[in-house]
Amino acid sequence: MKIEILPSLLAADLGRLAEETRRAEASGADALHIDIMDPHFVPNMSFGPSIVDFCRKTCPTFYRNVHLMMSRPDLYIQMFADSGAQTIQVHFESDCDLHEQLRRIRSMGVKNAIVINPETPAEVLIPYLRQIEYVVVMGVHPGYSGQKYIPETTEKVAVLAEMIAGAEADCFIQVDGGVSTANIAELERLGAGVFVAGSATFSSDDPLSAIKALKTV
Ligand code: DX5
Ligand code: ZN
Repeated sequence: MKIEILPSLLAADLGRLAEETRRAEASGADALHIDIMDPHFVPNMSFGPSIVDFCRKTCPTFYRNVHLMMSRPDLYIQMFADSGAQTIQVHFESDCDLHEQLRRIRSMGVKNAIVINPETPAEVLIPYLRQIEYVVVMGVHPGYSGQKYIPETTEKVAVLAEMIAGAEADCFIQVDGGVSTANIAELERLGAGVFVAGSATFSSDDPLSAIKALKTV
């Protein structure tokens, strides 16, 4: 399977946001992963729609994958779509009508995705599989870059791949958090194809080689 690597802006040097965004694009990354947090959903805060717009202006052809770690993503989806989000990912654990929000995202011409937290079983996604473009499995508790990979994530990817095949659905499996050369090969073998990597990319002095190493499994 072709592996896609999405550097997470959370791990970038925010004092040099434009350079960091350009550096990620020039390093062979497939898209930029932009983590949006509210402090109710996770114990942290990060960016707003203006950062998505800034990335669009800085690197117009660098695909923008926006991860909404928010309790009420439904209130902000339009704002992020208007700011240049090309995929919008909402959490299963958020407080909104997911079927309706997934439909809304698509109607805006934006790709949709559901993200599940480490404690959420893969089976909750069954009713949504035919309505989504990506299923995203968190490999860490959302909130921070640079955390240790939770090993149980691997089994969840295997379960999810079987569920997708069983439902004859057409969605990709993405893993977000703790991805490195130590686990990417097995995750790919089990059916994941899209990987968010923050610390494994932006923290490297040589992101081009780091991304190449992640893709060469
Ligand atoms: C975690 C974020 C991730 C994170 C990934 O809350 O959703 O996207 O930035 O960073 P690494 O790859 O360092 O775990
Ligand atoms: Zn993320």
